[in-house]
Amino acid sequence: MHEDLWWRSAAIYQLYVRSFADGNGDGTGDLAGVRSHLSYLAELGVDAIWFNPWYPSPLADAGYDISDPRGIEPAFGTLADADALIGEAHALGIRIIIDVVPNHASDQHPWFIAAQAAGPESAERDRFWFRRGRGPSGDEPPNNWQSIFGGPAWTRVTEPDGSPGEWYLHLFAPQQPDYNWSNADVRAEFEDVLRFWFGRGVDGIRIDSGALLTKDAALPDVAADYPPGPSHPFTDRDDVHDVYRSWRAVADSYPARVLIGEIWLPDAARLARYVAPGELHTVFNFPYLSCPWDAAALRQVIDETLALNAPAGAPAIWVLSNHDVDRIVSRYGRADTAFNLARRRYFHNFPVDLALGTKRARAAALLTMALPGSVYIYQGEELGLWEVQDIPDELRQDPIWRRTGGADPGRDGSRVPLPWSGTEPPFGFSPPSAVSEPWLPQPKEWRDLTVEAEAASDDSMLRLYREALHIRRDSAALGDGAMSWLPAADGVLAFDRLSGAVGVGGVRCVANLSTGPVELPPHTTVLLASGPLTSDGNLPPDTTVWLRV
Ligand code: GLC
Repeated sequence: MHEDLWWRSAAIYQLYVRSFADGNGDGTGDLAGVRSHLSYLAELGVDAIWFNPWYPSPLADAGYDISDPRGIEPAFGTLADADALIGEAHALGIRIIIDVVPNHASDQHPWFIAAQAAGPESAERDRFWFRRGRGPSGDEPPNNWQSIFGGPAWTRVTEPDGSPGEWYLHLFAPQQPDYNWSNADVRAEFEDVLRFWFGRGVDGIRIDSGALLTKDAALPDVAADYPPGPSHPFTDRDDVHDVYRSWRAVADSYPARVLIGEIWLPDAARLARYVAPGELHTVFNFPYLSCPWDAAALRQVIDETLALNAPAGAPAIWVLSNHDVDRIVSRYGRADTAFNLARRRYFHNFPVDLALGTKRARAAALLTMALPGSVYIYQGEELGLWEVQDIPDELRQDPIWRRTGGADPGRDGSRVPLPWSGTEPPFGFSPPSAVSEPWLPQPKEWRDLTVEAEAASDDSMLRLYREALHIRRDSAALGDGAMSWLPAADGVLAFDRLSGAVGVGGVRCVANLSTGPVELPPHTTVLLASGPLTSDGNLPPDTTVWLRV
């Protein structure tokens, strides 16, 4: 039987439920909203949807604090809604990928509540990282690790008898206690969760914070100024690979299911280990997402990404933005076009040229969709939405904002509800009968960026994405496969995607990141361009073209 390798070429839409579409008028997106817009995604031309966590959650970290990994957040709907959605998406030829969050639970998860109640040295506490504090009365954290969201990575509990008690580890917010992956219950639980969702028809799992799971049980201090990274005792330990080998065995017992790692590691050799045979099918590529709009830097990242995946024969993932980073239109409109989590707090102080950012984002979209492998589109990217930098402080929700005392603006600006139609907020995000405003305010200028407005305009971002996705899907040369660089002037990226099959046309992609126009290389026809060519047929700066060869 022919193996179904859909994920090697797929265009995947990242859907952030809270901000996609609100079906019941409470100002929060939900599964009813998604179901009523599935035809939009089918028309856009995506092959799969990745859902950010849709489980019951107190929303201390926008759903990445899960209190029941087998349910659906009541504000989003019910398990029956999810089942119906999976069926309807499949009927449209769209696969479903969901987030699984193995590093941590919610502090409202029954296991964590039981652990607090059971007290020190209990089997219930062994599922997490409870430790006595340091100092004579144990009132200092067990070690000096810092939370990735700011502040200490430990919080002290009050014991059932009311006395000040042990501390528990949380690499993210205090409401996100870390699981102990040396504990057999934890391992068995997650394998069961995978089976639960694969059994319901889910096609893939995106593994959240995939390099963090296992920890050095000695919990050693780190040097005071140590940034999280591959040699930090909580990142990328060898024993995490045992976990993924067992997950792969689970995935392989269902047809065509896929494991996708969110692995933030700058070191390509370390990253490559996650796609070794018998482990994950594919891993996200954050160096590409962080890369400045610079031809030499992009070429280097592209080559490194292909090289790291090559030994395992894994397909690369290309992604320009997601719910954790600034929207690209804003990023590319600043003087510094790189993205760096540690520097986000400074970016928002710089001016943004939205017209330039949009032009570059269009060029980047065509560049990205021409690269070999799969591609992710974060909802709203196809509309050219920008980072909303002026959300009033009292409406901000991201724990990063609070835990850094407002120094880091956090991620709310990329999570603002989508504009669908009309000329006033909520722009069709909520139904006319809505009783609440959208959970984050939408800029009034988004009246020009609604789905309705962009569908009616020939040169909108939406039309570009639609055309590109349809060409990409219909072309045997795009998606999975090989690429070959062509000689090109400084600041220009040019490469061929040839299918190898006799009689099937190839695609030649040229992206001009230099400051002047460049001549097009030989071709038969222009398939698609991110902006108009010059009057003499040359490729202007910040423009990408797909040529038929
Ligand atoms: C991942 C998610 C992010 C979340 C964090 C903790 O990086 O993408 O949104 O806050 O993990 O779960």
